[in-house]
Amino acid sequence: MQESDLRQLLSQLSLDEKIGQLVQIPGTYYQSGSVLTGNLSDSTYTAAQLKLAGSTLGIWGADTIRSIQKQYMQRHPHHIPMLFMLDVVHGMRTIFPAPLAQAASFHPELVCQGASIAAQEASACGIHVSFAPMADLARDARWGRVMESYGEDPYLNGIMTEAAVDGFQSTPSFVSCIKHFAAYGAPTAGRDYQNVELSEHSLREFYLPAYSKGIKAGAGMVMASFNTIEGIPATGNRWLLRDILRKEMGFEGVLISDWGAIHEMVAHGFCEDDRTAAKYAMKAGIDIDMASNAYGNHLKDLIESGEIEELLLDQAVYRVLSLKNRLGLFEQPYPVSDSHTQAHILLKKEHRQTARVVAEESFVLLKNKDSILPLRKSSKTVLTGPYVNAPDMHSSWAITGDRRDSVTVLNAAENACTEGFSFLPVPVGPVLRDLSGLHRPGKDELSQDIEALSDPDSLKAMEKEVLSAVREAENVVLFLGEHRLQSGEAASRTDIRLPEWQIEFLRSVHEQNSRIVSVIFTGRPLDLREVSELSKAVLIAWLPGTEGGPALMNLLTGKCSPSGKLPMSMPYHVGQVPIFYSQYATGRPVTGPNDDTFYRSRYLDCPNDPLYPFGYGLSYTTFQISDVQLSASTLTCDRTITAAVTVTNTGQTKGSEVIQLYIQDVTASVVRPLRELKGFTRLSLTPGESRQIHFSITEEMLRFHSPSGAFISEKGLFRLWISNSSIGGDPVEFQLL
Ligand code: BGC
Repeated sequence: MQESDLRQLLSQLSLDEKIGQLVQIPGTYYQSGSVLTGNLSDSTYTAAQLKLAGSTLGIWGADTIRSIQKQYMQRHPHHIPMLFMLDVVHGMRTIFPAPLAQAASFHPELVCQGASIAAQEASACGIHVSFAPMADLARDARWGRVMESYGEDPYLNGIMTEAAVDGFQSTPSFVSCIKHFAAYGAPTAGRDYQNVELSEHSLREFYLPAYSKGIKAGAGMVMASFNTIEGIPATGNRWLLRDILRKEMGFEGVLISDWGAIHEMVAHGFCEDDRTAAKYAMKAGIDIDMASNAYGNHLKDLIESGEIEELLLDQAVYRVLSLKNRLGLFEQPYPVSDSHTQAHILLKKEHRQTARVVAEESFVLLKNKDSILPLRKSSKTVLTGPYVNAPDMHSSWAITGDRRDSVTVLNAAENACTEGFSFLPVPVGPVLRDLSGLHRPGKDELSQDIEALSDPDSLKAMEKEVLSAVREAENVVLFLGEHRLQSGEAASRTDIRLPEWQIEFLRSVHEQNSRIVSVIFTGRPLDLREVSELSKAVLIAWLPGTEGGPALMNLLTGKCSPSGKLPMSMPYHVGQVPIFYSQYATGRPVTGPNDDTFYRSRYLDCPNDPLYPFGYGLSYTTFQISDVQLSASTLTCDRTITAAVTVTNTGQTKGSEVIQLYIQDVTASVVRPLRELKGFTRLSLTPGESRQIHFSITEEMLRFHSPSGAFISEKGLFRLWISNSSIGGDPVEFQLL
């Protein structure tokens, strides 16, 4: 539709019809049994509202959506089609590893491919918008939604957000919604939905850049966050949404609230009632009200009383209509697929294959003593632990996935057995045996499963069988981990260790056989001290998705070599979190391992460093990185210098390495982090092969948020490292003139 036609359509809409475009009604009102991601008790919709609502969420399926759209359009006075939105967080039916795992791949092209496949599958199911990616910087492992994030580093977060937006939007009839604007990933003490306390400096410097990258990549939508910023809920925060998002970042797309968030401004103590909340949200610039119905119930009155200018409403409605137009809905309102073609697109062989590659590249090898991995063909290996036969390797956000599609470790091991490996799988019961710390939806279903699988006598018998099998075996691979319901939305934890029974199980196995490889399934960084002490190898599998089993077997048997790197520091102890590598120095830093001065910035009972740092991860081969060669030791605004290293595969097998560039601004008018990631590249080398890697250093890379509000660089000394983690490597120095 031409812009002029769209404007004309807008001019023909009645006030109620315009407001309808801004109302998003949960799919359950159009189809029973659709997914709910929040409480419905506060939202009751009238028949008129259902007739006019411009969008819905949580329903999918080409035939279902066609039929709902048909009925809806027939009833709508102007036959304007409806938008169907959904959380397609890490895959539609083919489930990819969770976003945190994808970040560990340090492979943006793969993240882009994964999002592109997710969009193709979702589009085949009639979906127009995915509420993803989540661009929230996440530094606190207690927060359950770290699983949905790209981790602790602003640069990596930005690159991955951009890649995901590119991938989603490579399907022209699909739009990506970046969320949650802003700083939702920094809730106080890691508790979900808690308020956020950040300086404007930290907000702008570390938290905003990833959203900005996604917006520059053309994301069609942004979702506001639940939290407060500077004491004001984001949903009603004009400074955040109008000044920063719209004016500074130039976002012209549709801005949606999070689920029920307009209404929640009452609970925040920011608005006395829904009417005021609707007024504040509208003034702040929220276009669509997701699931609170404050707009549906109050906007008309607010406009008629003159408290809200109709112009504001028209602008918001125009943005929604423009999005429908961008998606081609006025020409093609119905899914092009039907259930038959949809079935051909979902879970295609190539989709599974990409999911497997993403999983392989996301695994992070933290320890590999005596090169116990990869497993040797002749050696007898017991495979056990709760994840050995668990099909559920998805996250709590994989709402459209089906765990029956997953290939378990056990299935994959059977294939490996036929290739000459000697595996003895011994199951040991479900991931959780006790649900006392798990107050959430899904718990009841889980407790039935657990009850069915956790008869104390049979668990004991299984454990006995494991212990006798491991005594005879050469190696033991333990597939351990958190349950997927222990991370994700509203799933914050203060104890970030493995479930207690699994630790006890590990101890008992260790008494029989110390050649243990621990494979850890998790949606967050965990305190793995004891696991690491008792295991020869530790491999982080994250929540690897549909192809988790084969990907793991490929890696354990050496068909491919691990190459993932930690996107978040693995803490030594929960008391350290939020812990991240790019901290500031303090006035009283610990100067080295022998510094025993008392008045230093440290813990009495725990090291300052994490157990494993950001950017860290081993391979089956070894790499040597040469000293850094700088093309010049001075940099000016109009020139670039090059930092180069030669990377050599010094081991016996082919492998990939992520080479990382870090810079420190040694002295500045605002203190700067000790190191900041400024670039990375992934390369694959055969044994003995060398390659030169170059990074261009520009003045722009050295800018930071100054008290004046501008991003500036300052002359002076800089240090630069090229290394394979956030620690290590020898720095070289240069001056910015
Ligand atoms: C979450 C959002 C999600 C929305 C819709 C909310 O509870 O915070 O991330 O997109 O539900 O499902």
